[in-house]
Amino acid sequence: MPTLVTGATGTVGGSLVRQLLAAGHEVRALTRDPASPAAARLPREVEVVAGDFARPHTLAPALRGVQRMHLVAQDGYGPLTTGPEILALAEEAGVRRLTHLGHNDPSRDDDDPIEAGHRPLHRAIEKSGLEWTHLFPGEFMANTWEWVGGIRAEGVVRAPFGDWNSAMVHEADIAAVALAALTEEGHAGRTYQPTGPEPVRRRDAVRMIGEAIGRDVRFVELTPEQARAHWQDVYPPEVIDWFLEMGAHPDGNAWVSPDVEEVTGRPGRTFRQWAADHADDFR
Ligand SMILES: NC(=O)c1ccc[n+]([C@@H]2O[C@H](COP(=O)([O-])OP(=O)(O)OC[C@H]3O[C@@H](n4cnc5c(N)ncnc54)[C@H](OP(=O)(O)O)[C@@H]3O)[C@@H](O)[C@H]2O)c1
Repeated sequence: MPTLVTGATGTVGGSLVRQLLAAGHEVRALTRDPASPAAARLPREVEVVAGDFARPHTLAPALRGVQRMHLVAQDGYGPLTTGPEILALAEEAGVRRLTHLGHNDPSRDDDDPIEAGHRPLHRAIEKSGLEWTHLFPGEFMANTWEWVGGIRAEGVVRAPFGDWNSAMVHEADIAAVALAALTEEGHAGRTYQPTGPEPVRRRDAVRMIGEAIGRDVRFVELTPEQARAHWQDVYPPEVIDWFLEMGAHPDGNAWVSPDVEEVTGRPGRTFRQWAADHADDFR
């Protein structure tokens, strides 16, 4: 029986697809557009099925005959507001085990503009009869892909908060935790918060990418107002507010979780490793 991976064309889902295949599992991948270049890059052994979270009934073919499913809680760039409907369809179709890659900031309440889109799905999952595992990772190392354009064009990263210190996590480690939760016993009802093994400051991450590609990369620190202008065409205003608010607490994301090592049995990958793995993207 295949494992259904949603978000399979994305950062974590793509890694999970490769790790499931390497462990000998059949994989079905969901995408809104099977003809997209990202879907075309999926490994040949993967069964690619069309479906759109925004129209939950379109997931019926993808869910057929599936007992294990990885759900990325995302609709376009926004939260997965149809999540509770998708969950009901999944249970009806016979899904028994679910990993849920999403977002949760327990320090904020349900009315917070970022949290409000996510919490109904969290509650629906916890009330469901599924063997569920929440994955609420720290900041992704892959967010630094945002710097590709500036590094390729002029060897410069323009970003705010050079001292921002974050235990960023490698997508392969989030996927490895998902793989364990999907394929091993003992993870049902657990919430994991995968992070990297150490906090890394923004300006050091820039330097490490430079070292990985063998080129000096300069960090130009933007003021919060310059950052708002820099991001205005990329992120919705409430997300920019959230980034800027976080930036005011340089060590707010520095906490290192034990989950990657405890679940997978090996330490999380470092940012230096991530930069080496993705050096070609920045060249
Ligand atoms: N970035 C971070 O720092 C961070 C931190 C904590 C948690 N997270 C969580 O991580 C998740 C994002 O993971 P990621 O970075 O691996 O994703 P990603 O690379 O941004 O890719 C998004 C994936 O979601 C799929 N998707 C989007 N809208 C869809 C829809 N309407 N119907 C079906 N599929 C849809 C896309 O598939 P197609 O385009 O092929 O349809 C794509 O594969 C989010 O839940 C986010 O809250 C991120």
